[in-house]
Order: sequence, then structure tokens, then C-alpha cells
Amino acid sequence: MRLDKTLSDSGYGTRSEVRALVRAGRVRVDGAVVRDPGFLLHEGVDGRLAVDGTATRVRRHLHLMLHKPEGFLTALEDARQPTVADLIPPNLRTRGLAPVGRLDLDTTGLLLLTNDGTLGHRLANPKWHVDKVYHAWTEGGDPFDARDAAAFAEGLTLGDGTPCQPAALEILGPAEARLTLHEGKYHQVKRMMGSTGRTVVRLHRESVGPVRLDPALAPGESRELTDEEAALLYRAASLEMPE
Ligand code: URA
Repeated sequence: MRLDKTLSDSGYGTRSEVRALVRAGRVRVDGAVVRDPGFLLHEGVDGRLAVDGTATRVRRHLHLMLHKPEGFLTALEDARQPTVADLIPPNLRTRGLAPVGRLDLDTTGLLLLTNDGTLGHRLANPKWHVDKVYHAWTEGGDPFDARDAAAFAEGLTLGDGTPCQPAALEILGPAEARLTLHEGKYHQVKRMMGSTGRTVVRLHRESVGPVRLDPALAPGESRELTDEEAALLYRAASLEMPE
């Protein structure tokens, strides 16, 4: 891979910024200054590439966890509404991050963004059985009881006849529950609750597969996944974690 692309993918700036960095003699490969931005690196350059004298980690892939607030569309651009792309830290905006699945405009909580398309696709696709856990607050209907948990475990049928896979309902209060889904149909939690006579008034996603929303993140804040979290996600998606 080209040196400028590698540096840019690793977060050192846009292509033109990293070209300037290279031309200024600030980048070394195997200890020698390289001034050609098009210099071709071979696999496994990790640790042999240094910027301003500091060995750098070469990473093509980036994964972000975002605490999605209300009022942001899960999209990369929209003519009318703010989108989650507005919440990506500016230095990471050129890295090709895309949301994994979708949260409604009014849903809060964990949204993953990745620039590994295969990983994103698998995490969102029900075929790969990556659980999503939601905390739902409802209005209307009866207080939750064991019969609801049994009906969700059995697999609900939505109002329009669509069957749902079995889901785990943990009752947290008369109108509050934690729901673990193995699939991700459009408005699924709201429609499932709707089919039991309840309206969701607040919805928050707590986790996606093995990754939980970091409680240190305020709404609108994000951070990169740790190596350990990324490794767990790749494993959950039955993928080898790339170098
Ligand atoms: N189910 C919903 O109804 N909305 C979401 O945002 C996510 C799951």
C-alpha cells in the first residue's frame, strides 16, 4: 500500500496533509527518511514506520462507538436533519466510517461506526446472530409480566403479520424492560411493543454483540474501540481481525 494512503488511513490527516508531512522529511521507514508519498510499503510495516521520530501503528480499519443522542439521523448526510456524521470527531471524518445498522431519530445509545464494510455488514445482518440489547420505556397496555416474557421468547408476530425471531424480555418495571434481539427489522422494538398494546416512549441501545456503551461517554461523545473490543466484535462476526 502507498505510504500516503497508509498514513491517511491511520489518522495522520487528509491525503494532501500527509503528502506534505512526507515531503517535509518527517516520515521514516525502516529508519530511513522517505520523501516520496507514493512509496510502496509491504505488509507488516507496523512498528517500522515512524512519524516525527515516533513509531506509529499502521491501521487500515477504524471502529468508533458513539453515544447517539436524540435528534440525529443515522445517515452520513441529509439535507434537513443533523446526522451522526456531524458527531464524528473532525480528524476522523476522512476515514470512511459508516454506521452499523440504524437507530431511529429519537433512539439513544450505542451506535457503532466502522470503515470495515464486511464487519459492518455482518454485525447488522441477522444471519450472523449478533445480539442487540435495548432498554425500552413504554406507555399503555398492562404492566409487564411473565406472560410477556414468554410471548417474546416464543417469537411475536407483528401487527402486519411479520414473524419475529425469539427475543429475551427482562422486566425492569411495570412499563420498563430490557430486550435482547437477534435481528434488526425496521422499528423492530417499537413494533414489537406495539403488537403487545404498548407504545415505546424512550428507547436506548445498551450493547451490540460483545460491545457495551461506555458509561463515560456523554450523549454525542464517541471513542475508538479498544483493540480488545474490536477483537471481540470480529469474533462475534466470525471474521479474522485484520492486522
Ligand atoms: N428498534 C426500534 O424500534 N428503533 C430503533 O431505533 C432500534 C430498534
